[in-house]
Amino acid sequence: MKKLCVICIVAAISVCVFNLLIAAENPASSEMQMKQPPEDIGPTGEELFRQNCAVCHPEGGNIINSQKNLHEEDRDEFGIRTPEDIIKIMRNPGPGMRVFDENTVSDRDAQKIAEYILKTF
Ligand code: HEC
Repeated sequence: MKKLCVICIVAAISVCVFNLLIAAENPASSEMQMKQPPEDIGPTGEELFRQNCAVCHPEGGNIINSQKNLHEEDRDEFGIRTPEDIIKIMRNPGPGMRVFDENTVSDRDAQKIAEYILKTF
């Protein structure tokens, strides 16, 4: 009889511990899913920049027309200060730059690239 009680107590404790472990794990995993808003899915601005722009603009420079580079003081000279200014150039660029229409780079990706340029160079 005594033995049976001990077994019952051990079993009850294990169930408690097991429940605690599950409870501790669940909020953490749902929180991690919450931290991933849909906008963050897909390549980053830096990756998109490397894929599409870095050939001609390595390190924010410009291998074709060195005056029209992506560094703040040079951009500023041509009035390029906001993401919209950069997206406008991608959709309708000056001589020597290839066109990036919405099929090549979506509006969302264009926005990511523009934000990356503004904060990096
Ligand atoms: C084939 C080469 C090439 C590629 C690829 C390219 N560019 Fe350019 N880019 C140029 C050239 C050349 C100019 C100068 C055009 C002019 O004279 O107006 C330029 C100008 C710019 C300017 C204006 C800079 C200034 O100071 O006036 C921005 C902003 C820019 N590019 C962004 C981009 C972005 C963003 C990408 C990628 C999505 C990209 N470029 C890809 C060649 C390129």
